[in-house]
Amino acid sequence: MSQTLRITDKRVLDSFSGSDPDIGALWELCVHLEWDRAKAVEGISAWLGEPGGQRILDCACGSGFPGIDLAARGYEVTCSDGSEAMIGHFQRNAALTGSLVEPVHARWQELPDRFGTASFDVILLRGCSLLYAGTWDENAEPDRAAMTDAVEKIVTCLRPGGRFYVDIALAANLARLEPQHTRRPVMEIGSDIVEQDETIYTDPHRRIRTWHSRLTVNGREYNFERRSHHVTHDELVQLLEQAGLADVQEEHVPGESYTVFTGRRPVSLRGTGRRQHPAIGQARAAFPSVSGAAFPWRFSCVRDPPLGPSFRDKLIFALFLLVSGGAGAGSVYYPCQRLGA
Ligand SMILES: C[S@@+](CC[C@H](N)C(=O)[O-])C[C@H]1O[C@@H](n2cnc3c(N)ncnc32)[C@H](O)[C@@H]1O
Repeated sequence: MSQTLRITDKRVLDSFSGSDPDIGALWELCVHLEWDRAKAVEGISAWLGEPGGQRILDCACGSGFPGIDLAARGYEVTCSDGSEAMIGHFQRNAALTGSLVEPVHARWQELPDRFGTASFDVILLRGCSLLYAGTWDENAEPDRAAMTDAVEKIVTCLRPGGRFYVDIALAANLARLEPQHTRRPVMEIGSDIVEQDETIYTDPHRRIRTWHSRLTVNGREYNFERRSHHVTHDELVQLLEQAGLADVQEEHVPGESYTVFTGRRPVSLRGTGRRQHPAIGQARAAFPSVSGAAFPWRFSCVRDPPLGPSFRDKLIFALFLLVSGGAGAGSVYYPCQRLGA
């Protein structure tokens, strides 16, 4: 008979005590089983450098890993998450560990309004969180536009020169087409006997990864399913660069078992851009001489093209905006190079 694994981790014990386990309790258990939290936090701290003077945002703080742990090491961490349920788990863990960090309930799309632009030196987005853009709470069909928009909004909150940290599943796992099945040993969590098994289905054609997890607590079964975006490492790099990050590279972070990519918001905004509606991109490509100067309230280029756009281009572009219902209104920023600046 296989041995029972006795779980003594306080965060897991607490998340399983009381009500029926939810996705937060399941995630807490997975974090405990898949990472050595202390080692991963050590690795992230090494990447961050000394705590003093860095304003850090953990923008998918979940139940507090690594935000709570970094705050305990003296980092100035702001923690936010889009899920009320996860915020509840964070607060429980904060109380358990004596942390004074108050998590902010905010989805990525809301971050610039919530915290202001250029307000952090470092932004962390760990736990493969980005891949759940638009899907974590509702298990909705993954929508690429939601993910692109999320990255752009998050990057806006980085100060020029600020650093970004994001992780993703291992390339080998993303490429596996057969279902990946994991069964944990039987666990004893407090007075509960818990079993868990999980299957991940990868469908690169539909660009979806779906996991099914079955949790059995004292014989009672709980089933969870989540869809996430299937994104290759190359696509992630492209996404980050399109959002205006430079120096995007894979980073070895001891203790992390996902693959980490980091990037930096350039000090000079030249060559960076926030993008909004794909139709705008097409229109701008068709009329490259239309510059930020022509529509300063819609487009902003740090360096304007040496020659202003022709009246004809301005007119055509204005007509396009009218016809497209002002799809570009608000905050479309395009890389100056692409505009031929
Ligand atoms: C897999 S958990 C990772 C949590 C934590 N970073 C960790 O490593 O343990 C993914 C987190 O992303 C958050 N999330 C997903 N979509 C979001 C969105 N649009 N805005 C903010 N948070 C989101 C979820 O609520 C969840 O807490």
